[in-house]
Amino acid sequence: MKRHAAAVMGMGYVGATTAACLASRGVETVGLEESAARVAALERGRVSFSERGLADKVRRGIRDGLLSFASDPRKPLETSEFIFVTVGTPARSDGRVDLAQVVRATKAIGKSLGTGGRGKLVVLKSTVPPGTTEGVVRDLLKGPPSGGARRFDLVFNPEFLREGSAVKDMLKPSRIVIGSEDPRAGGRLREFYRGLYGKRTPPIVLTNTVNAELIKYANNAFLAAKVSFINEVANLCTTLPEADVDVVAHALELDSRIGSGYMEAGLGYGGSCIPKDVKGFAAFAREAGAPLKLVEVADEVNEVQPEWAIAAARRLIGSLRGSRVAVLGLAFKPGTDDTRDSTSVSLIRRLLRKGSVVSVYDPAAAVGAAAKLGRKVKFARSVRECLAGSDLCIIATAWDEFASLSPSDFAVMRKQAIVDSRRVLKREKFDKLQKYAAVGLGRGAPAG
Ligand SMILES: NC(=O)c1ccc[n+]([C@@H]2O[C@H](COP(=O)([O-])OP(=O)(O)OC[C@H]3O[C@@H](n4cnc5c(N)ncnc54)[C@H](O)[C@@H]3O)[C@@H](O)[C@H]2O)c1
Repeated sequence: MKRHAAAVMGMGYVGATTAACLASRGVETVGLEESAARVAALERGRVSFSERGLADKVRRGIRDGLLSFASDPRKPLETSEFIFVTVGTPARSDGRVDLAQVVRATKAIGKSLGTGGRGKLVVLKSTVPPGTTEGVVRDLLKGPPSGGARRFDLVFNPEFLREGSAVKDMLKPSRIVIGSEDPRAGGRLREFYRGLYGKRTPPIVLTNTVNAELIKYANNAFLAAKVSFINEVANLCTTLPEADVDVVAHALELDSRIGSGYMEAGLGYGGSCIPKDVKGFAAFAREAGAPLKLVEVADEVNEVQPEWAIAAARRLIGSLRGSRVAVLGLAFKPGTDDTRDSTSVSLIRRLLRKGSVVSVYDPAAAVGAAAKLGRKVKFARSVRECLAGSDLCIIATAWDEFASLSPSDFAVMRKQAIVDSRRVLKREKFDKLQKYAAVGLGRGAPAG
């Protein structure tokens, strides 16, 4: 492959993974990041969040001389042929999307664009509402009319990676979506990806910008609807003797019209993407006069899903006031330390409001959660320390470490009551022990 030079703007989950993976495929890459602390850590081969295999890739890229980092974007932007924008697009308090980071990044890129030559290819990967690429980003890149006609190509190229398997997802994507008003610009990125992935290039959907923007939101909204659907089925299962949501979900997943994944019932979806994208998409559609009722309801179901764990807890120990509750798991899913919109954090806040005294443990996400929960909870350094003296344990995240727990691990509790919201415990080990009141959300009571 011809050696390309790329700049990636925003070294969060998506940007750091993009930069490291591009470098691993021979692209000379500079990762640009506003946070000087993040740059300093990355330069030492450290990633400030937990993502399997990423730190290794970063270190290898640095060692091979293909990956570097900078907080001043000017020089790297001037010398890069491809500029990937991977800055954050968080939700505002009204659910709409905050484009401040995109605006700032795009203005900086605009200043680096020249008026001659072929022009750089600006690839917007951040998730943005339909119309943003052409309606906001293009105008900012063009700059004021007095500055002369800047030359550049612009495409929207949504990212579908999942935290916890980000490197794998980026090196083996299921599909690539490229949106552009100019087929030549879209074709330019398609050729770049064909060079990058070679024979393993996945299907590429080349379309206009608005479709590409819609695809990203519709994708996450559909996943949200799937999760909320199976969670409601799980809630029903909880009321029916011998029902088991995992058996139901497994059979549904075998139907190719439904497909596999996102059928693991629990406390609801969380993380940095789906909750904010669902809200952003719903707000956008409402403003456009075409409300997405199904998506809005999926969000409502998700908001109240932690209440099902609270109800199960009450059935086991009665009032929660003054109870000591151990919550295992803070990350929004296993394999990551991300607690953004984590349903575990939402559950803990509910428990605190109900008067419980809460201790928590997570193998990776304590630091992120501490910023949200502060001193209101006790952060334990092990499962044992978390459980000691508690009246109730709620398993909130399906970490492997929790799946391997045995009844003896819970012996340090004052009362052996467990709400296993992810059904990770080996049921056979607990069912036969009368003194354990273990409830798997989504499972009805055993017969008899
Ligand atoms: N996290 C995911 O799993 C995921 C998956 C698919 C798509 N996305 C989308 O990708 C985008 C990035 O997500 P993320 O989770 O990586 O975000 P993030 O918030 O973790 O990281 C964004 C980074 O950009 C930096 N930044 C902001 N403005 C900058 C600027 N002008 N110059 C340089 N750096 C700047 C911030 O300091 C931060 O480190 C979002 O739009 C998100 O919706 C995220």
